[in-house]
Amino acid sequence: MLQNLGVNASGNLTIGNVDTVSLAKKYGTPLYLLDEQVICDNVMQYKNAIDKYYNKKGLVLYASKAFSSVYIYRLINTLGIGIDVVSGGELYTALKAGFDTSKIYFHGNNKSYDELLMAMQNDVEVIVVDNENELSRLNSIAVNLNKKQKILLRITPGIDAHTHDFVKTGNIDSKFGFTLENGDALRIIGTLSKYENLIYEGLHCHIGSQIFDVMPFVEASNVMLKLAKDIKDEFGYVTKKLNLGGGFGIKYVEGDDPIEYESYIEKVSQNVKKLCKEFNLEMPFIIMEPGRSIIGPAGITLYTVGNTKIIPNIRNYVSVDGGMSDNPRFALYGSKYECLIANKASENKTTDVYTVAGKHCESGDFIAENIHIQTPEYGDILAVLATGAYNYSMASNYNMATKPPVVVVSNGEDKLVIRRETFEDLLNSTEI
Ligand code: LLP
Repeated sequence: MLQNLGVNASGNLTIGNVDTVSLAKKYGTPLYLLDEQVICDNVMQYKNAIDKYYNKKGLVLYASKAFSSVYIYRLINTLGIGIDVVSGGELYTALKAGFDTSKIYFHGNNKSYDELLMAMQNDVEVIVVDNENELSRLNSIAVNLNKKQKILLRITPGIDAHTHDFVKTGNIDSKFGFTLENGDALRIIGTLSKYENLIYEGLHCHIGSQIFDVMPFVEASNVMLKLAKDIKDEFGYVTKKLNLGGGFGIKYVEGDDPIEYESYIEKVSQNVKKLCKEFNLEMPFIIMEPGRSIIGPAGITLYTVGNTKIIPNIRNYVSVDGGMSDNPRFALYGSKYECLIANKASENKTTDVYTVAGKHCESGDFIAENIHIQTPEYGDILAVLATGAYNYSMASNYNMATKPPVVVVSNGEDKLVIRRETFEDLLNSTEI
């Protein structure tokens, strides 16, 4: 079980010392819960490690696609780190939350003209340019606004991170970034001088997500620093900033063995320092972009158990009142989760295996397959652990499901930060 979870005298699961079963009664289910202390601790771990190993010449950006809302942008802003946003919607939400624009980085492989304009009009610090079309589009917007825009270039470094195919981004066959292997990246950098209103600040790469191994990150830093050297040698540009992306894995189930963030940062920093010496480069300002590892372990989701269907020798189904509309990760990636019955948290799990199914009209609408939980009965509260990242942010209204609320637990208190959608909300954009 995760560190912030416990079991109280009534035998109920607690999060941040608050009884989850009472929260399910108060707010209804499905319900997303986040423990603020865990988010703060994770941010501070990254922040302190980057300060320590890069002599305060670095910045952590929270990859806000993992969970984006006014609440999280405000919290992250007060913790003093930056964010990456990948859409007009994320940027809009961050601006509404009053996020410090000097710490906003804007990503995306197909940002629209309007999104680029919005970013520049709102003084977003850095735009991470993904391809050649975007370079010229961004430059003409900058000329029209009579502004200079700082940019990083996203590079596809050709690193194969050992993770699910859908979340790999570093190998040559990727829609993201300038390709290094075929010489595209260097050729395009050679054309930068024609984009007079863009200021080259440096490079970015992101090799994938839910990665447990340090080596792909070290390899990525090798490739990126070698490129920084080639850029300096061939064109004289100094790579002032180097963004090494996010992607650090978290523990979902037994057997997942995440890297200690501090030791990851230490190893990569040693390599970066060594290569800078070898290549005679000034140490760049180092940026990292963790998303999942900041907010994933802070969250759990609560459901109410509905019908069970036992098919002897085939499968034991236990259906809950949500499913792929609030957590599509099993359907998309076959993701694994640890579950338990929150109101029976002190009881042993049975030897039987259950498949937790949702209520949507799809046979593959599962939350977790063939897992051990306490004996489920109608009306029980089922908790799914480590759902803080890529659950709420990937929720949909499939089957006209209303998105669940988000409640934050902090100092033993609970606060509603996103209310449950209503049926009326579903019709908000309908022209009747
Ligand atoms: N930076 C960039 C440019 C990214 O594309 C991503 C994630 C991150 C940082 C943050 O990666 P993290 O530290 O969260 O692994 N929906 C998938 C994950 C997609 C990740 C997309 N990009 C999932 O649920 O597993």
